[in-house]
Amino acid sequence: MSKITKVVARQVFDSRGNPTIEAEVYSNNLSASSICPSGASTGTYEAFEKRDKSNKKYLGKSVLKPVKIINNLISKKLKNQNIHDQERIDHILIKLDGTKQKKKIGANAILSVSMAAKKLSSKIKKIPLYKNFIVKKNFKLPYPMMNIINGGAHANNGLRIQEFMIRPDKARSFSEAVRMCFIIINNLRSLIKKKGHSTSVGDEGGFAPMINDNESALKLIVKAIKKSGFTNGQDVSICLDVAANELIKNKNYSIHSKNYITVDQSIKKYLLLIKKYKIKSIEDPFSENDWPAWSKFVSKLSNKTQIVGDDLFVTNLERLKVGFLNVSANSILIKLNQIGTVTETLEVIKFAQLIGFKTIISHRSGDSEDAFIADLAVGTDSNQIKTGSLARSERVSKYNQLIRIEEDLGNRSKMNKIN
Ligand code: PGA
Ligand code: ZN
Repeated sequence: MSKITKVVARQVFDSRGNPTIEAEVYSNNLSASSICPSGASTGTYEAFEKRDKSNKKYLGKSVLKPVKIINNLISKKLKNQNIHDQERIDHILIKLDGTKQKKKIGANAILSVSMAAKKLSSKIKKIPLYKNFIVKKNFKLPYPMMNIINGGAHANNGLRIQEFMIRPDKARSFSEAVRMCFIIINNLRSLIKKKGHSTSVGDEGGFAPMINDNESALKLIVKAIKKSGFTNGQDVSICLDVAANELIKNKNYSIHSKNYITVDQSIKKYLLLIKKYKIKSIEDPFSENDWPAWSKFVSKLSNKTQIVGDDLFVTNLERLKVGFLNVSANSILIKLNQIGTVTETLEVIKFAQLIGFKTIISHRSGDSEDAFIADLAVGTDSNQIKTGSLARSERVSKYNQLIRIEEDLGNRSKMNKIN
């Protein structure tokens, strides 16, 4: 048995330049570390992110208190625990906090330790991280959903929809998938430039041109796909994350323009967009509390359109069960820090796959060089991964890790299935 000897934490910074936690777990004279990500368009039901609100040195954003909790309390409690018993490690952390949303210690403190422990377990077993989750053989690579135009809370261009993504459905390998996206992104850059807009990027690496209506963004993407020699809806699909939590007022939504309209009117517009731009996947089309709107929308669609719950499910088993009973979606976005431990994340993935939901592993808009989620996607047989554009190292690090995994698998490597 390899016993944990200590856990050390420090304050580092995420891709938005905000303080975050890096935890390092030690055992057998080895160590592994992991950095916690952070969202901007967060769901109400997510696990709690603990920050030093009253410490003005970092504008109330530092994480020095949770770092201290890891260095003192958590390090002591995990000492002598078996590094390979992830469930026990996570349950000790969950119990230590004792609250439903991990409000006492903070999900950021708990998750950074939980991920670091998982990494160290692989290191000691001398196996790659992706082989230390659920899948034991026949590993498959996920399809990337690359966020190539940023809007909503991730840019300040006034675009209502938060993420406009492309998914290279016809790619036969992960490196081919990345190559297809690379070509489209380069063509999109020229098209945006030609229109006289800036080609600077938003939080997730997608372009953030000063266009403020959804259809202009969609038209640009369709053009870029065509210019790249691909067929929209066949070789490549357009996917959206509406993040509608940010767009609701008095039960009405301002998804399609600045005007607030009813759920029925919003659905009508969605159906038009799906048809016109051959959209294959929509995430968070309605707000996290509006279960009836989700069910109504799903009932109007064929099962081929992927409806993804992010803020709706917050990687939470109880919420996923409600969504399943209400037929509210057919896919779930998986974000480790929404729930706070590796064990609970794996439980949600297993249940989702059992009920036939697709699992999409996701980064956060505030992320880091830590590529944990790339291995998680392969190790859990997840169909897709959402980790931004081919820009900004915190996004590209995940794609690069998937390229390494593909190489490691050699001729046994296969792409996952989308439909
Ligand atoms: P977030 O964005 O990390 O800011 O929540 C990602 C998403 O909404 O999927
Ligand atoms: Zn989302």
